[in-house]
This record gives sequence, C-alpha cells and structure tokens, in this order.
Amino acid sequence: MPAYEDSDFGTEAAPQLQQQKSNGQQGTPSSFGQSLPVPGDQQNQQGGFNSIEVPATRNSIAQVDGYMHQLSLSPSMKDRRGSRNSFGASLPIPRSKRQSRLSSVHYADDGKPARPGMPPIQPTRDILASQVQSFESEKVKKAKNMAFVFDIDGVLVHGDRLIPQGQRALEILNGDNELGIKIPHIFLTNGSGKPEQARIDQLSKIVRNPIHMDQFIQSHTPMRALAEYYNTVLVVGGEGYKCREVAEQYGFKDIVVPNDIVAWDPTIAPYRVFTEEERKTSRPRDFSKINIEAIMVFSDSRDYATDMQIIMDLLRSENGRLGTMAEDPVSSRIPIYFSQGDMLCPTEHWTPRMSQGTFRIGLEAMYKALSGVDLERVVYGKPELATYKYADEVITSWMEQLHGEEKLPENVYMVGDNPASDIVGGNMYGWNTCLVRTGVFQGGDNDENNPASFGVFPNVLDAVQTALKKELGEDFRFEWSDANVNPVLSGGKDSSAIE
Ligand code: G3P
Ligand code: MG
Repeated sequence: MPAYEDSDFGTEAAPQLQQQKSNGQQGTPSSFGQSLPVPGDQQNQQGGFNSIEVPATRNSIAQVDGYMHQLSLSPSMKDRRGSRNSFGASLPIPRSKRQSRLSSVHYADDGKPARPGMPPIQPTRDILASQVQSFESEKVKKAKNMAFVFDIDGVLVHGDRLIPQGQRALEILNGDNELGIKIPHIFLTNGSGKPEQARIDQLSKIVRNPIHMDQFIQSHTPMRALAEYYNTVLVVGGEGYKCREVAEQYGFKDIVVPNDIVAWDPTIAPYRVFTEEERKTSRPRDFSKINIEAIMVFSDSRDYATDMQIIMDLLRSENGRLGTMAEDPVSSRIPIYFSQGDMLCPTEHWTPRMSQGTFRIGLEAMYKALSGVDLERVVYGKPELATYKYADEVITSWMEQLHGEEKLPENVYMVGDNPASDIVGGNMYGWNTCLVRTGVFQGGDNDENNPASFGVFPNVLDAVQTALKKELGEDFRFEWSDANVNPVLSGGKDSSAIE
C-alpha cells in the first residue's frame, strides 16, 4: 500500500490561498493565522519582498480524526450515563485477590485462622469497631453501603504538593466522623512509573493519611495479568529502571528496556547521547537472536526519539526480532499495550504537559505512514472498562477487610478532575461522578461532553461531604466526638485495616 493517502496531497489548498490573498482575505488561524505574519507579507526595507510564494502540494490540514482516543469520539455521554456499556477490546485483568488471600489462610488446631509461616491473624481495630457497631443503626448500614474512588493528580495532590482539602476528606473517611467508622475508599490513578508501594509511601506522607496497597490502583496495576501471556517483553517509559522493577514485581519473566537495546547497538538510536553510567547499568545481549513478544508502555517516555524508533522497529519486524523487517506488517506484528491514554497531565508548568495519549497518537501516525496499515493497540487505565472492573474487585476486597463483608457497595462515588478520563469512565460504569475544579477541569457549570452525574465541586472535601450528606443525612457530623478512641486521631499509622 502507498505510504500516504491521495488526500494528503490536496490540490485545493494552494489555489484557495491564492484566491483569498487576491481578495484581501486572511486565512483561518490554523492554516496561516491572522496574528502570525505570512513570510511573503514581510516587506524588506527597500519596500520589496525577500521571498516568493510557491503553491503547496500537500494539504495544510492534518488528517487526525482516526488517531484520536476512541472514547473521545463516542456519542455524548449525556445519553449513556448510568449504563454499563462494554467499550474497548477485551483486556486481561488480574484474578480477584480475594481468592489468593483466602487460599493462603488455613485453620490451626484451636480453630483460629492462620497463615503458613505468618503470625496468627489478629482482629484489627477496624474489625473490632465494626463488631462494636453490631447493634448498627440504619446510618451505619448506609455507611457500609457506599464507597469512594479517588483520582489522585488534580484531586488530592498536584505533583508533590497536597491539595489541602484532600487531607481532611481522607480523615473523615478514615473514621473521624460521627459513627467513628471507616468508609471504604480506594485510589484509582492514571499515574505510573514506580512500584505501587513506593508510590503509596510517597502519597501517604503528602496526604498525611494511611494508604494500603490493597486500596491502590495505578494505570499499569491491572497489566500484572499480562505477565502470564508473554515471556520476553519490552517495557517502555519512566525514570531510570523503575519500570523494569515494576514489571519484575508483576511477575514478568524476561524484561527488556530500551537502554538494553541501545547498549547492544547504539546505531539504532542515532540521536541518543548514551552515558557511561547508562551503559554500565543496562543489560545488553544479542537482540538479533531474541524474539520480543510484546511491548508494554508502562509510563511516559523520557526520550521520545529513542523509544519511538525502537518501538517502530519492533512493530515492523518479523515477530519482534530486531534486525528483521516483516514482509506482512500485520500477521507477524507483536502486540503493543499502553497503560493509559490521557493526552495531558497537569504539572508545575503553567499549562498541562503531553502524556502517554499524545505519545501513542504520534506512534499510530508514524506506523500508518511507514507501513500503510492501522496500528492495533490496547490501552489500559481510566476510562477503559477493564480498569473499572478491576476497581470493582479492589473495592469488594477492601470492603471485606474493613467491614468483613465481601460485597460491592451500591453507592460508589468517583471524585475526579478530568472529564475525559475519570468522569466519562465513571459515568459509563454507573458510578456517581463528582468533578472537582482543582485540576484539569476549569470549565463552567459542568463539562459539556462528559457531565459529572453528581455534580461539580470546588474541591474534594466539598464533594465528599455532599455525598456523605446525601447517603447518611443532612445532619451527618464530620467528626468523632470521643478523641480518646478516634481511629484517626489516636490510631496513628497503624490505623489501616491490615497490618
Ligand atoms: O495523566 C497522568 C496522570 O498524572 C494522571 O493521574 O491521578 O489524575 O489519574 P490521575
Ligand atoms: Mg486527575
């Protein structure tokens, strides 16, 4: 197939330009804007022109619709709110943690559950608290029938900085409320790039609340399931070798990172300046003798030129063997997975920075241009269905740990700042969605394309308090009256449910 479509070489653009200029009209901002000078308009000091205009043979408008994230093109969410539509291809997610945890429990002679090689299970403060509440009121029942799902960036933190209301919202849910009860909440972020425990340690210090591994999902967390499918994989993105560590923890058996390949053959990435330190820490081997079976983009690329070149070489190779070029670009192409599809990510910079979604679109365009066929790929993370299904699993498991009841609460509230990610996914999944104004969303009353079903709030604390009042009554009090047994104020770090 030809590398370009005929439409790329538009024949109308140049005559239109000539026509508009001869009519004294300006072009559209996207073609030759009103404020930017067109080279031919700049007169030299002698009153003449230093340049001449040559009609372009290529259409000045890029044809990009096909590269957009699938969900951005879906029908308006206004019509689909509350439904549990299936969207996207089928994506593996890990099996329920509950099965593995229960299978690791056996019963000792005294009838108490025990784990092989582990200390006996002790009832935690939280389970005791739930037993104390066994005379439970209607309010307690309702509190046990709800859960929160928190986006992180733009809701609880900005990078390493706390959004102050985030701390108080979590304190309330960790037991500083009139019932003295923990209200289940999990964290669902499209963030990535380091092992879960490292991210949790960092985050819990910032938000000054305990966070447990079993209530935490990063964009690549469900990709753990893929470890069973492939032997040798290329893992891309993140700082240094942190994503290699993530993949190791997920059980991937043979992990290659781009530095290993550059160390083997530096000519593969002609613009890369490869340091001695990088050479020493990489793991080169003869990649012309190894089939890389899949590509996992776990996190944002730190070197687009190198990563895109290596990914493209592998996608166009014969079954992932570097140094080969497939005759048929489709049948021998290895799969590529992305951990999330966000276009932009808020950072310390004044306007959000490009994220994995834009990196992916670049790759898709390059692949189509070079091979003539569309790239098939799988994208995890919000708003993909697999990620929400996995979140259901995590909520159910966390419910069991907090309240001893293995069930999904009926009323789930998602608090997010990104309509195209948190809100569209939560709406499709039938959750109540709360859009906050502390992150990506800076719009009016509600987002036009993906309106939050529960409403728009100035910050996460407002969202949490409004949801609690709706479920538990307008008079619900957001503090525990007895400071001596307050699970948050007297519990310190060990107040998380599982030690
Ligand atoms: O877009 C990347 C990431 O920083 C978004 O994180 O927590 O807003 O899903 P989060
Ligand atoms: Mg966010």
